Amino acid sequence: MTATASAHHTALAEWVDEMAALCRPDAVHWCDGTETEYNALCQKLVDAGTFIRLDPVKRPNSYLARSHPSDVARVEERTYICSANRNDAGPTNNWAPPAEMRATMRQRFDGCMRGRTMYVIPFSMGPIGSPIAKIGVQITDSPYVVVNMRIMTRIGAGVLDALGSDGFFVPCMHSVGAPLAPGQADVAWPCEADIANKYIVHFPESYEIWSYGSGYGGNALLGKKCLALRIASVMARDEGWLAEHMLIMGIESPDGETTYLGAAFPSACGKTNLAMLVPPSSMPGWKVRTVGDDIAWIKKAPDGKLRAINPEAGFFGVAPGTNVKSNPNAMATIAKNTIFTNVALTDDGDVWWEGMTDSPPAHAIDWTGKDWTPASGRLAAHANARFTAPASQCPSIDPAWEDPAGVPITAFVFGGRMAKDMPLVFQAFNWSHGVYLAATMGSEATAAAIGQAAMRRDPFAMLPFCGYNMADYFTHWLNVGRRVHNPPRIFRVNWFRKDEHGKFIWPGFGENMRVLRWIVERMKGRAFAVESPIGWMPRYEDLDWSGLDFPHETFNDLMAVAREAGRIEAHAHEELFDRFFDRLPKEFVFERELLRSRLWRSPDRWELAEEA
Ligand code: GTP
Ligand code: SPV
Ligand code: MN
Repeated sequence: MTATASAHHTALAEWVDEMAALCRPDAVHWCDGTETEYNALCQKLVDAGTFIRLDPVKRPNSYLARSHPSDVARVEERTYICSANRNDAGPTNNWAPPAEMRATMRQRFDGCMRGRTMYVIPFSMGPIGSPIAKIGVQITDSPYVVVNMRIMTRIGAGVLDALGSDGFFVPCMHSVGAPLAPGQADVAWPCEADIANKYIVHFPESYEIWSYGSGYGGNALLGKKCLALRIASVMARDEGWLAEHMLIMGIESPDGETTYLGAAFPSACGKTNLAMLVPPSSMPGWKVRTVGDDIAWIKKAPDGKLRAINPEAGFFGVAPGTNVKSNPNAMATIAKNTIFTNVALTDDGDVWWEGMTDSPPAHAIDWTGKDWTPASGRLAAHANARFTAPASQCPSIDPAWEDPAGVPITAFVFGGRMAKDMPLVFQAFNWSHGVYLAATMGSEATAAAIGQAAMRRDPFAMLPFCGYNMADYFTHWLNVGRRVHNPPRIFRVNWFRKDEHGKFIWPGFGENMRVLRWIVERMKGRAFAVESPIGWMPRYEDLDWSGLDFPHETFNDLMAVAREAGRIEAHAHEELFDRFFDRLPKEFVFERELLRSRLWRSPDRWELAEEA
């Protein structure tokens, strides 16, 4: 496509011209989204040393990229929400005055694309033309970003058609921040190596994104966290819907009915695994269908129900730990047409990562490009190594995954990574209690938040992704529940409780189906629960144990509620809430007091009775 490709959308053409004048690239390339273009860009990346073409038989049409060691994950400490009023960003977001940040961005982007090509990527989050979809246009100087965006979103000419001559788009500016002087040789992974010079900036009032200095993941693929979560959460507040860090899955029961749920877990806590779960063979007739693995846009439909779409078109999934046992559907999804970043390269031209096979290869090239053997004492793949693969290749993909109307959501599930005290599963007493449970969720730290305390509060798994004051976000959730008839039931789960030897008590992965079955049957009014101090819980006999030898006493340990730990937990909620002060919804104050009271009147260690 030529620079005049979008001359019929004046505002878009003017913005692109203005940005080209600012960044001063050598050339401007409008992406048409075709396979020919994709293949040409991949070849360019191979020639530049960014991509290694994998063995065409073992891993057809697939590539490996190794990032700069300073550029391996999202950088939360460099992520900003620049609202006019500091309080509108809230206490959990980095903030800077918009005028000041705009000046900084102008400075950074001035001449930043010298020696490079500027790519213009029109993209749609959600099926093109769907009334729920939103259009963005990303400008980037990274061909790696272009080819990843083509997998993760719908890009190209069809999006420009949908945009018409005056359609709304979110402008998304991106540069790796590594201009080339005349004659200067490029490097395999250009970026701004100094973390203090990276910026991931959002202007929520004008729905604008500016990202500088990083080429990795959510920092650079701006449709994902920046648009589909931070900016979309603001749009959702303004327009009365929800933009969430949630997988969407359908669970088919033996009677052939499918129940859809949305589940929020912090980064690297098992969304991709759960979304693609393969039920144990001892549970015949139960099937899982994948709609999305990371982001859900949820709106009230004309029938009064909440319906969800996956705004993405691909998976940007964590590689380490993925194998044919833990996630066979992910392994099948990444068999071809996949971009791998920061995994190891085997001697036969395939990929490898920790946990992929029972025994490691005798030799490989690690994610930094060095020789590696099992005796090296270092990781072969980076802990946040990822694959980028088309969702359409997933064997468990739901037939309705691209339905523009979305799928009906009847339950929300929230879970963190908690080694202690948090039971396997329980159900909220009601909507406001469920919102409270989600708001007080905690988890052990993830790749993007290294250096943080061992456990951090991550309300709704949205702490790094909410584009406005989280107290207002809680209020928005409370309001949504009041506006729908029969709102979804809310559950907390924790696959990660450990015993006194530090071992996971719960087998997890496919066995999580036993918990999902109870959740589905609760919604159908077919499963029993007892009232615990913290919510409704299944007894041992309420879960399907067929084909799994899981002792009754171990289950009771997994479900126990310790009063002292609960008291400390409730106290920590108060510390979290103090930060929001006057904007905190009233309900939360009462929910906390009720929790305290229930704990106070319970035994030191509340346990499920053998005979309930
Ligand atoms: P983002 O893409 O970062 O948002 O993360 P995600 O939530 O999709 O993470 P993912 O599914 O890739 O989780 C990766 C990690 O969780 C891996 O280390 C898995 O081994 C681990 N994991 C997933 N499910 C389970 C489970 O049921 N039990 C245990 N113990 N670990 C699990
Ligand atoms: C996450 O960190 O939650 C991700 C990966 O899904 S990234 O797109 O890099 O943010
Ligand atoms: Mn995520």
